[in-house]
Amino acid sequence: MTLPGASVIGALATARKAAQLYPPTHPAHRAALDALVSAVRDADGHAPLALNLHQGRLYHGSTVIPEDLPGSQGIANAFEARHIESLAFSPGFGLTDATGLVEVLSLRPSQTLDVTQELTDRGVTAVTVGLLEDETEEDRKDRDRRRALDRALYQQLLRTLRVLVSRLTEEPRAGLGAAAAAVTEIVGRLAEDPSAILALAWMRESDNELLSHSVNVAVYSVNLGRALGLPDEGLASLGLSALLHDVGKTAFDIHDPAQAESIASLHSQVGADMLSRADHDDSAPMLVAYEHHMYADGSGVPPRAEGYIAHPFSRMVAIADRYENLTNPHESDHALTPDQAVMQVLREAGTRLDPLFARLFSGALGVFPVGCMVRLSDDSVGVVCRAGSEMFAPVVRRSYDARGIEVDEYDEVDIGAECLDIIEVVDPNSLNVRIAEKL
Ligand SMILES: [Fe+2]
Ligand SMILES: [Fe+2]
Repeated sequence: MTLPGASVIGALATARKAAQLYPPTHPAHRAALDALVSAVRDADGHAPLALNLHQGRLYHGSTVIPEDLPGSQGIANAFEARHIESLAFSPGFGLTDATGLVEVLSLRPSQTLDVTQELTDRGVTAVTVGLLEDETEEDRKDRDRRRALDRALYQQLLRTLRVLVSRLTEEPRAGLGAAAAAVTEIVGRLAEDPSAILALAWMRESDNELLSHSVNVAVYSVNLGRALGLPDEGLASLGLSALLHDVGKTAFDIHDPAQAESIASLHSQVGADMLSRADHDDSAPMLVAYEHHMYADGSGVPPRAEGYIAHPFSRMVAIADRYENLTNPHESDHALTPDQAVMQVLREAGTRLDPLFARLFSGALGVFPVGCMVRLSDDSVGVVCRAGSEMFAPVVRRSYDARGIEVDEYDEVDIGAECLDIIEVVDPNSLNVRIAEKL
């Protein structure tokens, strides 16, 4: 049975889209409004229709509207952005109501937007709105607390890795338990809030490039493993392997240009040797250290016999490693923006990189990954903070308004739901912005 609320949501989403694409006099615009009126009238035949927003999900009465219902996420985001908690439709809902409602749901959200007044001004009488409470001081504190905890987790992973690296060089049977535990925490948080963990990859410390690189490769690898549907145990093993993939480099002086060539050709073998001596049952970290530069087209190091197939984790880490190196190369002038790096990974799918994993990796990060700085069609500039209602339209945290003035308030916009577009990707260096401070 179709939910009566579902058809109204579909019609509302279509009417918003039509209002964005066509002038009010256009037949498609008018047809979409007529369809909305019919959907509401049909639904009213069942029971008084009310749509409610609760914790980001839409409900019809107490029935949850499936998130994959076309248009539902966009409508939920449009409600949230305008602080709408509920919409109740009264009998007699007509064209004036539909027109006014769609217009108001397309107004740019702002602190001063008064939805009730805007509906009244448009002659809407058959719709009653309930408004969400403003974000309280407590909510803001909660968000800041969570952010601080995530940053502490990243720092802890860096510290654990630093200690582990020195123990691996000094003790013949060093255990990997502390690092494994820290990775397990990251895996848990990634399941809860992938965007928050992907944002951590921007917290890199320039005083220890190798550690930051390793932690970031672990974050990206686990994100890929999650997209692949690996169970938690597999993700933990993959994350630990990724964290330690370059451990062999610690046996060299990475700042000595004379050693660069040996590091490139030998660190896989050296790392595998170090990990073969560690006190750890799982052989994946050792294998990944050994194989992560064996590329899909047969190139790379160490040399291997024809037909040798690297472990799936090694092929996954190779992709995360490539992406990390593209976005954070040794010479920062050559850094690609995240969207360019995703495209480059896709270009190398099937040659240097495993084709299936490379596509999955790009899909999991999105066309505009977390941390990508973008200019929107309203001329404001912000940083992508998570996936949005549409693939090409993520949620962006505004950093600068259309006049170029820095935005102080916490202003997140789902650009798909707000009918905005990404006009260009901006190099944060050109604006002297540190992405880590914006996420
Ligand atoms: Fe490496
Ligand atoms: Fe690496």
